[in-house]
Amino acid sequence: MPSQQHDTQRGKQKALAAAVLAAGKGTRMLSEAIPKVLQELCGWPLLKYAIRCARAVNPDRLLVVVGFGREKVQAAFPDPSIEWVVQEEQLGTGHAAGCAAEALGDFPGDLLVLNGDLPHLRAKTVQGLVNTHRELKAEVTVLTCCKSDPTGFGRIIKDSSGRLINIIEEKDAPEDVKKIKEVNAGAYVFKVAVLKEAVQAIKPDNVQGEYYITDAVVVAAARGYKVATFLLEDEREIEQVSDRADLARSARRIYNEIAQEHMRRGVTIVSPDTTFIGQDVRIGPDTVIYPFCVIAPGVRIGKGCKVGPFTHLRSGTVLADGAEVGNFTEVKATFMGEKSKAKHLSYLGDGHIGPNVNIGAGTIFANYDGKKKERTFIEEGAFIGCGTILIAPVSVGKGAVTGAGAVVTKNHDVPPGQTVVGVPARPIKKEKNRDEESQKEKKKGKGKEVR
Ligand code: UD1
Repeated sequence: MPSQQHDTQRGKQKALAAAVLAAGKGTRMLSEAIPKVLQELCGWPLLKYAIRCARAVNPDRLLVVVGFGREKVQAAFPDPSIEWVVQEEQLGTGHAAGCAAEALGDFPGDLLVLNGDLPHLRAKTVQGLVNTHRELKAEVTVLTCCKSDPTGFGRIIKDSSGRLINIIEEKDAPEDVKKIKEVNAGAYVFKVAVLKEAVQAIKPDNVQGEYYITDAVVVAAARGYKVATFLLEDEREIEQVSDRADLARSARRIYNEIAQEHMRRGVTIVSPDTTFIGQDVRIGPDTVIYPFCVIAPGVRIGKGCKVGPFTHLRSGTVLADGAEVGNFTEVKATFMGEKSKAKHLSYLGDGHIGPNVNIGAGTIFANYDGKKKERTFIEEGAFIGCGTILIAPVSVGKGAVTGAGAVVTKNHDVPPGQTVVGVPARPIKKEKNRDEESQKEKKKGKGKEVR
C-alpha cells in the first residue's frame, strides 16, 4: 500500500503492521498433537486473544508467524485478512520476528510484535504501547511491567538515566539480575527498518541456543536507536500460560471477568463460580442464569430468559426474549423464539423454533444421519410432547401437536394445527370423527348382539 494512502487513512500517522508470534510448540503443554496457541481457553484458541489485541490497533497488515503444527493453526483461523508467515525452524523469538519483518518487504512504518500466548493482555494496553512509541518518536518501544514475582520473565536492565540497556532472560540471569522486578511483557513496537537491521546482528549464544527478540532490542539500543519502554500497571495482564494448570487458572479468571461484566449489565448469575460464559456472548437484562451452565462464545440470549441449571448452549444458539431452557438441555445452532420453552432433558440442534413453542421433556432433534446435518423447523405455538424425536429435515406447523413418544420421520412435515402420535407419527383422528366412528361401531355391534 503506498504511504500516501496511509497518510490519509491515519491522519498523517505512519503505517502500522502487526505480527503475532505463534510458531512455538509450547513444550510444557506436553502435547504432540496440539500446538500451544491452539489450546482452548474459554472456548477460544489461545492465539485468538493475541489476534484480537493486534486487530484493536487497526493495523494495515496483520501477520501471524506459524511453525509447529502450522496447518492446524491456519485451519483454525479461516480468515483471509491474516497473512501467514512460516517459520520453518523455531529458532527463537528473534528469528520469528525477523521472518515477519522479511515478509513485510519495504513496508514503510512500524511493526507491533505480540507473543501469541498472552491471553490477558488488554487491547487498551497495546494501544497505549503504540501511542507511546509514536508520541516519543521512538524506534523501538518495549512493554514492561513490575511483577511481584518476576520468575520466568526476561528482566529489564536500565542505566542510571532510566534508559533500557539490556534484557536478560531468566535462564541466562545471574542471581542479582533475577532480583529485578521490571520484566519484559512480550509486546514491542519496532520501526521495521530497525528491526531488520537488528535481527541481522543477533546471535544464539545463550543458554537456550535461540535467537532472542530481546537481543534485537538490545542491539538497537547499543547502536543508538531510540529505545523506549511503556510500563504496564496491572501485572495480571501478562500472566503466562505455559502448562495445563496455567490454562485452568486463566480460564477461571476469564470466566469470572465475563460473568462480572454480564452482572454489571443487569443479568442475574446465581453462581458465577459454576457458570462458564464464553467470549462475545450477549445477554439481555433480567435474564437469569442458574448454576452449572456452559455458554459458548458468540451465543445470543435475549431479555428475561431463564437458562439452566445444567444447560449447554453451543455455538450459533440464539434465545429470543423470554425463552427458557432448563435442566440437562443442550442447544446447538438453534434459534428459539420468544417465550418458547425447553425445560428438561432435550437436544435441540440445527433448529428454528418459533415463538410460544413448548418443547416437552426428552425431545430430541435427530439432526445427523451419519453423513450430514439437517434442520428442524417448529412453528409458532406448536406443542411438542414429551419424548418426541424429530428426524430432520422436518417441520412442525403452527399450533401443531406431537404426542408423547412420537417419532416424526424425515420429510413427513406436520401441517399446521395437526396432531400426530405414535411411531412413526401419524395424524390422530379428530374427536368428532372418532365419536362418529364409535357410534357406527356400536350400531354394528348391536346388530350382532345375541342375547
Ligand atoms: C518471552 C521473552 C521474555 C518475556 C516473555 C513474556 C524472549 C527471548 N523472551 O519469553 O523476555 O518475559 O516472553 O511472556 O522472547 N515463538 C515463535 N517462534 C520461535 C519461538 C517462539 O513464534 O522460534 C513464539 C511462541 O509461539 C510464543 C512466543 O513466541 O507465542 C513467546 O515464545 P516463548 O519461547 O514462550 O518465550 P518466553 O519464554 O515466554
